[in-house]
Amino acid sequence: MIREMRAAIFDLDGVIVDTAKYHYLAWKRLANEYGFDFTESDNERLKGVSRIRSLEILLEIGGLTFDNIKKTKMADKKNDWYVDSISQMDASEILPGVVEYLKNIRAKGIKTAIGSASKNAPLILERLGIISLFDVIVDGNKVSKAKPDPEVFLRAANELAIHPYNCVVFEDAEAGIQAAISAGMGVVGIGKPSILKEADMVMGGFYQLEMILGTYLKT
Ligand code: BG6
Ligand code: MG
Repeated sequence: MIREMRAAIFDLDGVIVDTAKYHYLAWKRLANEYGFDFTESDNERLKGVSRIRSLEILLEIGGLTFDNIKKTKMADKKNDWYVDSISQMDASEILPGVVEYLKNIRAKGIKTAIGSASKNAPLILERLGIISLFDVIVDGNKVSKAKPDPEVFLRAANELAIHPYNCVVFEDAEAGIQAAISAGMGVVGIGKPSILKEADMVMGGFYQLEMILGTYLKT
């Protein structure tokens, strides 16, 4: 079945820019303060997941439990460290091929949106200087249900006025792939096929995506 792509919805962290390393360093610093280690492989579990849910997973790994007030303080502390790191970012950190791909599909009349769990998405996009490449931005400040719930992508489709069937999501996280599938959209995984098993197709990055323009082959 051929699906016409009229809108492309991009996750931000891990798709447009590699912020995972900054998230990882900040979570690791918090874990170390509480006396336990947090590995890069543990960090895979946090990709695409909301800030507070990420903290809960981290505490699960450390075998710790705290009340909500304490958890909010811990998440705020991690976020302060993370914001310090991303405040230094610039356009050189945009992943290879992303800007070219965005310009290419926009020139063909395809709408573009961000669909991210991050509340820091506006700051990151501003640092990267690419806000004007998106028609719509839906981030963690606008949605109440985190991925794998499809809310973020359905809201983007709604704001773009494009039917979900004609939207294709670009995602690096399992939770995001699930969200796109639940939204009834096509989904391209960016990363490793072994992790992103349920995507329609998986690419290493946008430098390999020239072929996915107006028409999208759903397998
Ligand atoms: C997602 C990241 O995009 O945003 C997660 O993949 C992160 O790792 C989540 O926890 C929330 O981000 P933020 O910036 O609001 O803490
Ligand atoms: Mg991501």
